[in-house]
Amino acid sequence: MTGLETSMKTIEVVLGEKSYPIYIGNNILSGIGEFVKRLQTGPKIMVVTNPTVFGLYGQTVLDSLTGAGFEVCMGEIPDGEEYKSLESAKLLYDTAFDNGLDRNSAILALGGGVIGDLAGFVAATYMRGIPFIQVPTTLLAQVDSSVGGKVAVNHPKGKNIIGAFYQPKMVYADINTLNTLPEREFRAGMAEVIKYGVIWDRDFFDFLEQEYLAVIGLAPHQITRVVSTSCSIKARVVEEDETEQNLRAILNFGHTFGHSFEALTGYKKYVHGEAVAIGMISAAGVAVKLGMFSNTEKTRLQNLIRLFGLPEKFGGLNPVDIVESMYHDKKTLAGKVRYILPETIGRVRIVADVSHSVLYEVLAAQS
Ligand SMILES: NC(=O)c1ccc[n+]([C@@H]2O[C@H](COP(=O)([O-])OP(=O)(O)OC[C@H]3O[C@@H](n4cnc5c(N)ncnc54)[C@H](O)[C@@H]3O)[C@@H](O)[C@H]2O)c1
Repeated sequence: MTGLETSMKTIEVVLGEKSYPIYIGNNILSGIGEFVKRLQTGPKIMVVTNPTVFGLYGQTVLDSLTGAGFEVCMGEIPDGEEYKSLESAKLLYDTAFDNGLDRNSAILALGGGVIGDLAGFVAATYMRGIPFIQVPTTLLAQVDSSVGGKVAVNHPKGKNIIGAFYQPKMVYADINTLNTLPEREFRAGMAEVIKYGVIWDRDFFDFLEQEYLAVIGLAPHQITRVVSTSCSIKARVVEEDETEQNLRAILNFGHTFGHSFEALTGYKKYVHGEAVAIGMISAAGVAVKLGMFSNTEKTRLQNLIRLFGLPEKFGGLNPVDIVESMYHDKKTLAGKVRYILPETIGRVRIVADVSHSVLYEVLAAQS
């Protein structure tokens, strides 16, 4: 073990031949070259990023990779969700081809979920799949999108419609990068973190309640726990159900409602985590109405969401439109919406379909 490694947390995602480590540490970016070298890929590597992240961290990563002997080429895509597209993928295929990347070359995603999903999609499809490395730099990417192997691009007809399950060879998360993240993006990532507490780990939920000020203040010890516990939970769920046949659906807690809030506001009003926060309260409301979750616990969830500065209500949307939109979500199975509803903080259940009258009543109280 190197000195750098002893200061890190390592979580293993155990998926047979597709197993991989997640490294989490503070100020570890300059050491990435040596870790990539261990993967024994070929000498060429394409770093996919955007100008925002490149300006902050690109040179550190490039220096480390070249210092470790890699021949690096850049695949830079403009910043924004609209660039998570087949057009951007084509540009990256061109860059990979022009720089002679072969089946042993790697693609490294340096950025948030947009870059990770896009670069992963290109890695999954270029020459039928080449090694892929995730270097997530947003909280959402560190706790969620970089782990689990869902890669995708958007299509004009829907988000993440074109994609694959393709696991990375390594995830390398430097919590120090969160210091430059806009506050709204950090808070949005916290919605996914709170989600893990509700679906899996009551102690973690307690910890978030007690330590929220240190977490918001990016105290390294607390942030390391936030990222590592979240990754461990996601890893356990993905190990059980890599391709979302069953258990993995619990990761969608708050998302069924959240996707509707995002879609009905044209993906402009809310960032994803904000919509998920409101959606978790909707799901908790439904669970209370069905008599499976206590009002006291729902209030705890609502309070925690508030402590992290996340929204609790959707203004100006019609409950009928929200329910209608949930039936059009790509995760709807055979015309049935699967709701992920809490039984207690730390445990959820998948409930196939809930009556519209219950949904309308809960949503009307939240508008
Ligand atoms: N694959 C999955 O399992 C999964 C899960 C959840 C979300 N997603 C996808 O993730 C995407 C959203 O990801 P996101 O929330 O990370 O958004 P993002 O990638 O758009 O990043 C948000 C913003 O922060 C900037 N940024 C990134 N790191 C920074 C840093 N350290 N300092 C300053 N600015 C920084 C980015 O340039 C961007 O402007 C969506 O496309 C969503 O579909 C995928």
